Amino acid sequence: MTTASSGRDETGTDAADVIAIIPRPVSVEVTGEGFRFRSPVTVSAADGTGTAAGLLAERLTTTEGPSASAQVTIVLEAALGAEAYELICDPAGVRITGGDAAGAFYGAQTLLQLLPPAVFAGTPGAEPVVPGVRIGDRPAFGWRGAMLDVARHFMPVDFVLRFIDLLAMHKLNTLHLHLTEDQGWRLQIDRYPKLTEVGSQRAETIMVRPDHRHPEDERYDRTPHGGFYTKDDIRRILAHAATRHVRVVPEVEVPGHSQAAIAAYPELGNTGEQLAVATKWGIIKHILNPEESTITFYQNVFDEVIDLFDSPYIHVGGDECEKDEWIASERAQASMAELDLATEEELQSWFIRRMAEHIQSRGRTLVGWDEILEGGLAPGAVVMSWRGEAGGIAAARAGHDVVMAPYTHTYFDYYQTEDRVTEPYGIGGLITLERAYSYRPIPEELTAEEARHVLGAQFQLWSEYMPKPANVEFMAFPRGCAFAETVWHPEPGDYTEFLGRLRVHARRLDALGVAYHPLPHEEAG
Ligand code: ACM
Repeated sequence: MTTASSGRDETGTDAADVIAIIPRPVSVEVTGEGFRFRSPVTVSAADGTGTAAGLLAERLTTTEGPSASAQVTIVLEAALGAEAYELICDPAGVRITGGDAAGAFYGAQTLLQLLPPAVFAGTPGAEPVVPGVRIGDRPAFGWRGAMLDVARHFMPVDFVLRFIDLLAMHKLNTLHLHLTEDQGWRLQIDRYPKLTEVGSQRAETIMVRPDHRHPEDERYDRTPHGGFYTKDDIRRILAHAATRHVRVVPEVEVPGHSQAAIAAYPELGNTGEQLAVATKWGIIKHILNPEESTITFYQNVFDEVIDLFDSPYIHVGGDECEKDEWIASERAQASMAELDLATEEELQSWFIRRMAEHIQSRGRTLVGWDEILEGGLAPGAVVMSWRGEAGGIAAARAGHDVVMAPYTHTYFDYYQTEDRVTEPYGIGGLITLERAYSYRPIPEELTAEEARHVLGAQFQLWSEYMPKPANVEFMAFPRGCAFAETVWHPEPGDYTEFLGRLRVHARRLDALGVAYHPLPHEEAG
């Protein structure tokens, strides 16, 4: 990318500093003289440009004006393509052309990043200057996401809205909400009220940090934890996400990670035992039984999920399902014999297939973690590859669409530095900012034809050790800034150059009050 020559302009702003857009645009040409905004900033937005002008109005004092005299003009030109935009700033003003409404919105996001960082606090200064630039930009991938685990720790609606804003600021367009777990069920389902009455509350939470741990036994915090989203909460989240061009993909887990549901409705389990909502982490052996009544129960649950969420993709989990209870259960073994299935993996596949048929009959596409490959993949299913890239490679070769989410680069619940003393307690592993930045979503093994099945990638925020929104922000950023670039820009970037832009970008995060992890200052120097 071309950066402006350094040297202070009359506003005292270093021109090289202000061209610090994250994610890095596909092309930036510094053209010379820029444009000085006068307040109020007159904006002319053509029909169909959606929320682009609204985004500017949140940060600048704007007023609508006729296109001939407007300081910012926003228009559409479908030929640019989905989510693409062009932004031109010269002494006549700023012109944003979107390939569609999402592209226009991303053009407006870029414009905000051309202004002083204080614009993110709504205080851009009296007459901020936009540098003279010509930017042409479009995303490399259509699925640019983050997974937020609101099940291990419930996250309030207002934080989900803020998190959507932070994703959109980085031109990420998918929020995968992990809504159900052993430790909590977080979504109102009208037909089965106990899912939230019972399943959304746990009595206490294990304390596993070394400074919490008693040498002899497990210790618990003796503090109830709970919460769930009503359907109105979800409608609010979806309405907000729509203004940010973020798609919200719901995940309801089957047949593992389901202890909260079994606690609410013991007939879903294999033993009939009354379980509690889980209070400790890890892989839990209690799973759903494969009875027809359980299939019907979950078809009904997914009907309500599909009625509520407009996402074309519905995630059914499918990961980490230990089969011990099916091996021990006479009824599960009888089902396997009746269905002519040789292994418990095939029984899991049968379960997922039953969900896939139902979800597809409602016009949606099933997504599952890569374990759904074991025992045979449901036709049309999308595979989310988390145990490295192998699942994604196998699925793409089998002609299935894939979302890459490998733990090696995208598990942002992992530590971000080697420091185990001052870093907050994490789940383990290490994904430094540099490693996050080095990620390439397309596995090298794939041919160009197979690679077309890679829809994109997402980073994961499993929340066992993120009890509060601030903990989520600390783990999500700045690695999320690095990740955004790996799914937006088609080419790998230079990490040192990225760090230079990130130092400017951090001032935007400061203006927004984001609780991000400190930048690696030495390398950034
Ligand atoms: C996963 O991390 N179990 C998807």
